Formats: sequence, C-alpha cells, structure tokens
Amino acid sequence: MPIQATKSIWHNGELIPWEQANIHVMSHVVHYGSSIFEGIRCYEQKEGAGVFRLHEHMQRFLHSGKIYRMELPYTVEELCAAVVDVVETNNAVPCYIRPVAFRGYGEIGVNGMKCPTEVYVANFPWSNFLHGNEGTNVCVSSWNRLAPNTMPSLAKAGANYMNSQLIRMEATVNGYDEGIALDVNGYLSEGSGENLFIVRGGTLYTSPLANSVLNGITRDSIIVIARSLGIPVVEQSLPRELLYVCDEAFFTGTAAEVTHLRSVDRIMVGDGTMGPITATLHKAFFDIVNGNAPDKYNWLTPVKVHQPVGV
Ligand SMILES: Cc1ncc(COP(=O)(O)O)c(C=O)c1O
Repeated sequence: MPIQATKSIWHNGELIPWEQANIHVMSHVVHYGSSIFEGIRCYEQKEGAGVFRLHEHMQRFLHSGKIYRMELPYTVEELCAAVVDVVETNNAVPCYIRPVAFRGYGEIGVNGMKCPTEVYVANFPWSNFLHGNEGTNVCVSSWNRLAPNTMPSLAKAGANYMNSQLIRMEATVNGYDEGIALDVNGYLSEGSGENLFIVRGGTLYTSPLANSVLNGITRDSIIVIARSLGIPVVEQSLPRELLYVCDEAFFTGTAAEVTHLRSVDRIMVGDGTMGPITATLHKAFFDIVNGNAPDKYNWLTPVKVHQPVGV
C-alpha cells in the first residue's frame, strides 16, 4: 500500500520535515536488522480523535528495546507526548502511527551497541487493512513462527518481520489473503501480523505467549472485553485442526482490528460469515474506538485535530 506523506516526523525530540527523515546506507540497521517499532491507530470520534492504547504501545516499544539492549533515552510519557505532537501537527485522522527506533550510523559489525540510537515517530492517513466485514481467506503457512530462544517474539523487532514476510508472501502467491503460522512444535501461533482467536462451544480460545506470538494490544483488548461480557476466555496451546472444526475464528491487530476468518485452507469456517461471538466482540471494540460507547478502560488518548482527512 502506498504511503501518503504528511508534513512532519518526530526525530530524537524534534519535528523535522517528512522528506528530511533519511538515514545513511551504512547505518547498522540496514545491514543487521537492528530496529524495533510500533504500529498504533488514531481513531476519529464524533467530538474529536483519540489514539488507541498509546501508553501500552509505548511501553511495549521500550520493552522491545530493553530485550535488545537498546535503551531509548525517553520515558513512556515522553514518547506518548511525541505521538500526540506528531498527530496534532500533521492533522490527519484516522491515521496509523509508526514509532521506530534503530541503531544508526557509526560502526560496522554485528554488535551495534556503540552506534547511535535513532528514534522516529511518523504518521499517515490509513483506514482498513484486511477484508473488513467480508472476512478473510487464509492458509496455514508452510513456514513456522520464530522458535523459542532464537528471535524473541515479545520484541516487536524489524528483523522478526522477515519471518512475517515469508508467511505473507507465500499466502499471497497462493491466492490467500493471509497465512497462519504454527510454532516449531506444530501448535497454532499467529498470522504474519495478527493474533488469532478461535470460538468453539461458546468459549474463546487464543494461543498463549509461549507459542511464539506477539503480546498484541488488540489481543489484550479483546480478552478484556470478552471477560467483561461473560464470555469465557482460555489461553492454551491449540492444534491446527481446531481451525477446521471451530465455530468461529478471527484475527486481531492494530492493522487488522477484528477481522473474521471466512475460510482456512479453503475449508469454510462455520458458514463463512461473521459468527455471533465475533460479531459481539467486533461491535464492542468498534463502539469504544469510534466513541459510540463510553471509554470505560481509558483506552483513548485525546488529540486535537481540526479537519479530519478522509481515507
Ligand atoms: C506478528 C504480530 N502479531 C500480532 C500483532 C497484533 O498486535 P497489536 O494488536 O498490538 O497490533 C501484530 C501487529 O502489530 C504483529 O505484527
């Protein structure tokens, strides 16, 4: 998807013009994949706009850096303020926000600890990613998700997305919208950029963090909403074939939001339409982010924007 440029990008504490946010080809990140990042949405509500779960995203950002010994010289609050600053300056909602930090230009060699750490926050207008309410047709990937103690799944690191790219490209060339990867032991893990939920017999199941999944913030939101509605939630290792015999299945993620699976490996999930539990959770989620229900969990950080830009 083409990126729509905005005016400014936050870099190490300053707003700079979009076109000046460049790096040197010899930066450590280009050669060794040493970046961490976040993906955040800002939603439009009737009376303004709000960034979804900003604090949790920036906390995960700092944790990704900590795992990779890349300490960022900012607090969660300073990073949240940077996001608000960029969104308000660029005045584009709804939008996608991309904080990224990486080891920059300075030294060659795998150990980049002496390279400067560069921190950027960009945003651009964005709405839907997967197939909205039509549902999505997925396959089980021939690629496994990251094995434990190889690449840490709880770090949202750029390098992890080489695995995601293999999953997504294979799905695309074979005519699917997305791929679901198994972990190295053959249990369900997640999509290339989404967490996975399955509904069976009125219970909501999702893979635990130990099955090589990212600790998704939308995943957590859906678990909170489901429990508040009295829907039982079980985090346990799940066999692949549960996908073929479940009542409902859906992806969650900042980009995917809540997207139901229409089919897996060309086997229909239920009757292919969004099932009742998914629909309940989908509605509850969108009611909060679109401001049609009270923000009872304080998930939205208000931003002051003037002229919403349609996308
Ligand atoms: C691999 C992977 N899993 C899950 C998710 C969903 O996480 P979140 O809900 O925090 O966006 C993402 C998206 O960031 C992802 O890239």
